[in-house]
Amino acid sequence: MKTNHLTEPLGFDTGTVTLSYTVEDAAGKEQTAARIQLATSPAEEDICFDTGVSTEIDNAAYSLKCPLLPRTRYYWRVWVQTDAEETGWSAWTWFETAKAPDEDWHARPVTSPFGPEAHPVFTRTFTPEQPCESARLYILGLGLYEVYLNGRKVGNEVLQPGFHSYDLWLQYQTYALEPAPGENRLEVWLGDGWYKGRFGLGGGLSPYRGEYALLAELRMRRGDGSEQIIGTDESWQVHPGPVQTDGIYDGETIDLTADCGQTAPAVPASLDLSRLRPRLSPPLRIQETRPMRIISTNPLILDAGQNLSGWVRFACRAPRGTEIRLLYAEHMMNGDVFRDNLRTARQTFTYISDGTDRPAEPRFTYFGFRYVRVEGWPGEASEDDFTVCVIHSDLERTGSITTSDASVNRLFENALWSQKDNFLDVPTDCPQRDERMGWTGDAQIFCDTALFNTDAAAFYRKYMQDMALEQMNLGGSLPCVVPATFYGVNGTAVWGDAATIIPWQVYVHSGDAAILRVQYPYMKMWVENIRRETEQDGSGFLWSGSAQYGDWLALDTDNVHGATDRTLIATAYYYYSANIVSRAAGELGNREDAARYDQLAQNIRSAFLTEYFTPAGRLADHTQTALVLVIYLGLYPEGTQDRQAQDLRRRIAEDGFRLRTGFVGTPWLLSTLTMCGCEDLAWKLFLRREYPSWLYEVDQGATTIWERWNSINPDGTMNKDGMNSLNHYAYGSVAAWMYRYMAGIQPVEDAPGFRRIRIAPCPDRRLRHCKASVCTPHGVCAVAWRWVDTNRLTLDVRVPFGTAAELVLPDGSGSIHLAAGAYVYTLEMPANHPFSMMSDWRELLADDRAKAVIETYFPKAVRGIPFQNELQTMEQVVRSPFATLTRETITELARELENSVASD
Ligand code: BGC
Repeated sequence: MKTNHLTEPLGFDTGTVTLSYTVEDAAGKEQTAARIQLATSPAEEDICFDTGVSTEIDNAAYSLKCPLLPRTRYYWRVWVQTDAEETGWSAWTWFETAKAPDEDWHARPVTSPFGPEAHPVFTRTFTPEQPCESARLYILGLGLYEVYLNGRKVGNEVLQPGFHSYDLWLQYQTYALEPAPGENRLEVWLGDGWYKGRFGLGGGLSPYRGEYALLAELRMRRGDGSEQIIGTDESWQVHPGPVQTDGIYDGETIDLTADCGQTAPAVPASLDLSRLRPRLSPPLRIQETRPMRIISTNPLILDAGQNLSGWVRFACRAPRGTEIRLLYAEHMMNGDVFRDNLRTARQTFTYISDGTDRPAEPRFTYFGFRYVRVEGWPGEASEDDFTVCVIHSDLERTGSITTSDASVNRLFENALWSQKDNFLDVPTDCPQRDERMGWTGDAQIFCDTALFNTDAAAFYRKYMQDMALEQMNLGGSLPCVVPATFYGVNGTAVWGDAATIIPWQVYVHSGDAAILRVQYPYMKMWVENIRRETEQDGSGFLWSGSAQYGDWLALDTDNVHGATDRTLIATAYYYYSANIVSRAAGELGNREDAARYDQLAQNIRSAFLTEYFTPAGRLADHTQTALVLVIYLGLYPEGTQDRQAQDLRRRIAEDGFRLRTGFVGTPWLLSTLTMCGCEDLAWKLFLRREYPSWLYEVDQGATTIWERWNSINPDGTMNKDGMNSLNHYAYGSVAAWMYRYMAGIQPVEDAPGFRRIRIAPCPDRRLRHCKASVCTPHGVCAVAWRWVDTNRLTLDVRVPFGTAAELVLPDGSGSIHLAAGAYVYTLEMPANHPFSMMSDWRELLADDRAKAVIETYFPKAVRGIPFQNELQTMEQVVRSPFATLTRETITELARELENSVASD
């Protein structure tokens, strides 16, 4: 049971409330009726809202429409009836509202009198006037804050209040406190973080240039219901704390020998309280701890065995004044940590001991790392002294995939790790160098994968709020980085299209129309922004005017933008976004907009076809990415689908069966190939081990997804380019293909939230088995296939309660409709993938049967013709001027090849 996709949220925004639940262990297949009750205590007599027995309650997303009081804990439970006549009540769960939007704060924002450098610690002592029934602290500290009550940290979140567009909204948090009888001491530490320190592209100061500020309101409820309230004001004391410096890029310095004795009253701060909003951000915490291995003693170097985000906690036993430094890095080279790819980020934690034994760790920063070089360690280090703390936003894991191939499994894990390492309140590009920003393109590309891997609806809900506010700020366009910490380029295709794609994907995965409704105006705003721009510059329905990133980091040119025509990419995405807006309007019952944006999409389409296709149907820009885009989006002249598929096949073959795609082509490459009947080629690229490929990275020891196909060269050296991270999730979007096609679990877009599921696995003999499961909003959907012998496959399918699936059988015999339940099939599969003239010529020669056919018709080829090493496909070989084959022989050879099957 979740409220706004969170478990028992305390003090979150409840502007819209979506309740959801799954039904487990039912004998029935679907819910026939349900009833939801809301109460102010977990008791029958305190029920304040009751839906009554209803057939209209959507378990994936029930939109609660009932007035809610501020600062109130609500309990809810649900009763469900199934088609097997079972009924049952759930236990009570709860959510608690924050302050009312227009409610005054019994507190004033304060700051420190010790200047902008000294990290302040605010203190206030208080005594509950009567035994306190419950206490809540409503609080916001800027840049970052930590609260302590009587010396113990309140809550277990880190880096609060998180990272959002501070200039446009400010999220405050709510904590439940338990004051002791008698005197209590509240302490709040402030740090710089994203708000105040060095942050943003170019390495300068954060654009927010904020000053330290604290706003806090402590409400203690007495037995009689009245409240004792203590708010921040000049009665709070401040002293400089031991944190000397902190920064998201540079790390932190803590000096426990520093003089913190000076105290002074807090002084008023100017903080615009109209920007305050209850939080949307899911908690950011230490999610896991791991051991560190010592891999070198001189210098002392530790290995976490995994590239990750977080920090190392160590047991400090050092004489007063000892300075210990931890230098964080992603990579090792020549026996030492390699830090050149961090650019200006110093990623260093410095700790000066006061001589007491205690655990040491930073408070206001994080690092992207696998290795740590330790300097100044007193005496001999033991592995027991170090613990890795892995941090990321709360993300309930929903998806998993395992196969018979260890490298494929590692690749899947790498994508998951890159997600965790970059889901730090904002979906960031990377966690290590001087960027770590919410690049919208990266976020959009990876969003489908992220939503399979985890329940990320609440995480994106918050990010979409940032996006929406930034769009309003720019009059409709979207900055390439949200929160907008870098105003270099705004509103480029693919990046800006995050405005439509993310809300749509969240809707498709969660089925929550309330989120789509909140976001819809901004989705529209984005498309209107492009329309305005294209109208103004007279480019009609082609989007040709503005600066574009293009197929970022593609391998088909020497520059970062790739070879694909940038207007083609921009216009294809304009079409895609217009379509999404039309569909979203349809889902929200706005027929007028649905028709309007459908018409716009049609206009873009005809302009695109006129501009980019020859009359015979050949795509004028013949890159892999261009072909992928048109096939994936259906942007080609009617009736030419087969031709486009063949052209893509030929393009890839002629490129030596190597992918050349960047940020635009890669996410859809394998899906497109699978959709258009070239699944053999999708598998070939997926399982390829030589550079460039996904498994090349795995073979090079990657534990996360790299930014570039060649982030590490085949000889083990790092790519020299300054922009080179080993933890960038964009190419990890291949995991979406693994869920959707390898395992075959696809949410049907017309029935969002997996209400209907298309199950269409595409097994390949190179994997012996594959097992995937996705915890959908209705429960677990699972698919497992396994080859029992060369041509026989078993298929296990589990369809969740309350859903229906269309199972497309991989033996080619058609599809079956399935209700909830578990099913097992044994299938006779067609013979191994057939060969053709488009096959890789070297692969044909390596196969006994194919080689025999070639030998019969073209014996010369087997002995060797001039330049054959430069040829890729069999077709290219037979057409070589040195082949001297007759047309008849070529036809015969082609026919025979297609009829032959690969050797076992
Ligand atoms: C970032 C990205 C981003 C790109 C756009 C890079 O510096 O790391 O991944 O999408 O710039 O230009």
